[in-house]
Amino acid sequence: MSETRGKFNSRIGFILAAAGSAVGLGNIWGFPTQAAENGGAAFVVMYLILAFCLAYPAFMAELIIGRHGQANAVESLRKISSNDAQRSFAFVVGFGGILCAGLLMSFYAIVAGWMLAFTAEPVTSLIGATEASTWLTTHGTTRNLIFTFIFTALTIFIISRGVADGIERWSKRLMPALVVLLISLTIYVLTLDGAMDGLKAYLIPDTSRLLDPQLIVSALGQAFFSLSLGTSVIIIYGSYVAKNENLVTLGASVTLIDVFIAFLAGLLIVPAMYVAQAQGVEIFKDGVLLSGDTLVLTVLPALFETMGNVGIIVSFAFFLLLSIASLTSSISMLEAPVSYTVERFKLPRSKATLIMGALIFTVSTIIIFNFSTLFGFVISLTTEYGQPIIGMLCCIFVGWIWHRSTLLEELKSGNEQIEHSLFWKVWPWYTKLVCPVAIALVFINSF
Ligand code: PHE
Repeated sequence: MSETRGKFNSRIGFILAAAGSAVGLGNIWGFPTQAAENGGAAFVVMYLILAFCLAYPAFMAELIIGRHGQANAVESLRKISSNDAQRSFAFVVGFGGILCAGLLMSFYAIVAGWMLAFTAEPVTSLIGATEASTWLTTHGTTRNLIFTFIFTALTIFIISRGVADGIERWSKRLMPALVVLLISLTIYVLTLDGAMDGLKAYLIPDTSRLLDPQLIVSALGQAFFSLSLGTSVIIIYGSYVAKNENLVTLGASVTLIDVFIAFLAGLLIVPAMYVAQAQGVEIFKDGVLLSGDTLVLTVLPALFETMGNVGIIVSFAFFLLLSIASLTSSISMLEAPVSYTVERFKLPRSKATLIMGALIFTVSTIIIFNFSTLFGFVISLTTEYGQPIIGMLCCIFVGWIWHRSTLLEELKSGNEQIEHSLFWKVWPWYTKLVCPVAIALVFINSF
């Protein structure tokens, strides 16, 4: 089977694909709004600590499981199991991750569909199609269905082309575009009136909030979501990495890019909120900063409107940025069930992609028709429960089930000196003890 499996052609191809998965709505929408809600820089500081101390080790665990297994998540976990009970556990964790990825995509595609609709709006507004503009930016079942469909179809198109020609090629095209858009928008917004107040709110920590349990829970959830953990996505991307690659530096590069882009997005979004305020747009409600969808879908568009024609371009660029970020993430979500179906049922990739894409779109449709009951529920089920639990179980797999000698052998492949490195001295026991306990504590605390 290994000859017929896809593979990333280059180191940079993997880094951009994995960073593409990691960088998404979580970075550009979730991180800045959570920071704004949770004491600005206090959240940023806690996020940085948790991202490097808990999420990075967990990311490494998933990456190594995948590279060792060279197969989908279930098979990769089974390869490190040594008895039947462990193999059943492998199935639960691997399949749970795949399910989590599919469910995640079902709501992610809806939100990404909004981003596409808001990208189209400046175009209709430019040609004076006011009714179309209103339709595109108003919450409605038909609009949601159409744009979720378009977004899912784009994802299916890329995934059906495979690893090198689909995931790698498109990540290499989309990620640089994303970075250029993000940096240009940030520079522009920072030159506007009011931006400096936003910068202060973002960068000066409210230290009294630093150890607030709510802040810690939110920061850990955000770090797990942002690094795409607990969804089997990193296992499957790891399985496409060549044996001569150094996993430790690969994982560190992806984590650094992810954190850097989230930080950069904060430099854009938080100051933009204060610029909006300087233009007379309401950004506080009952003394609390507006956040979540109100911020992205109401406050920022209201700001763009005050900018006249420039606003049309800025609005287009901003929502295009969010659409691109969503697409590179959703392709990784779809790859999780597709790789499993291809390998488990020996289906051709194009067929497996269509079936899984259609299944996920059906779930999205059910959510759209029962929006008020299901949308929030699926988000909380996957991001607050599924991801931390499965991420924690992957750490348990690496720490307690995998033999230390085979683990070392896998890490040595591509990094001969690893045995004498700080990483090997710290990471194994850290993943064995600290990660599962810390994740469990934060998780229990969230109740
Ligand atoms: N990391 C992505 C983001 O920040 C979301 C994601 C979660 C992607 C899980 C894949 C798997 O938006």
